[in-house]
Amino acid sequence: MPTELSSLTKDLEEIMFSREQIEEMLVRLGKEITEAYRESVQKRRVIVVGVLKGSFIFMADLIRHIDLPVEVLFLQASSYGSGTESCGRVQINMELDKKLLTGADVLFVEDILDSGRTLKRLTEYFSESGAHSVKICTMLDKPARRAVEIKTDFCGFTVKDEFLVGYGLDYNEIYRNLPYVAVLKREVYTK
Ligand code: IMP
Ligand code: MG
Repeated sequence: MPTELSSLTKDLEEIMFSREQIEEMLVRLGKEITEAYRESVQKRRVIVVGVLKGSFIFMADLIRHIDLPVEVLFLQASSYGSGTESCGRVQINMELDKKLLTGADVLFVEDILDSGRTLKRLTEYFSESGAHSVKICTMLDKPARRAVEIKTDFCGFTVKDEFLVGYGLDYNEIYRNLPYVAVLKREVYTK
């Protein structure tokens, strides 16, 4: 595994969360989620739904810290806009059969909660699925930029209003493969 990734690291201001900090966070969230759903798995299906693409690395690592028999599904959503700003129009690109969620306890897993529009739209959309419960787990929460009211049930880290990349998070589809979360240099997206 490359550790330097120098073609990408030249664009970074600083590392915000190291691999070690991410691992500690995964252990903590895994315990919280395991406790929260321990009873549920006796009665219902528990389904962890990853919101692609940003959540794919976080989701893969997180589920290995959940000590319960859970199912896994993915869907893809994007909020269109240019560069680092979303315009607020959320599109669900890869659909999920809503019937799959009927009667189940559903946990949406996101990379970052920013304006909150993506998760608001997804939870509204799937509220008609007849899920027994719908909860949200986000790796990062940027409350300063919230445009709609939404609360998370499980949160890795609360962050300031800076543009972050790595560990699944992208800028123009690049930087997802960095093994940590870092601040992108402003000059990269303002030039
Ligand atoms: P929201 O709908 O505004 O909450 O935006 C959620 C989506 O915007 C996330 O799933 C990310 O794909 C993207 N996003 C928001 N902030 C950042 C960031 O700092 N870095 C990378 N992507 C971000
Ligand atoms: Mg995303």
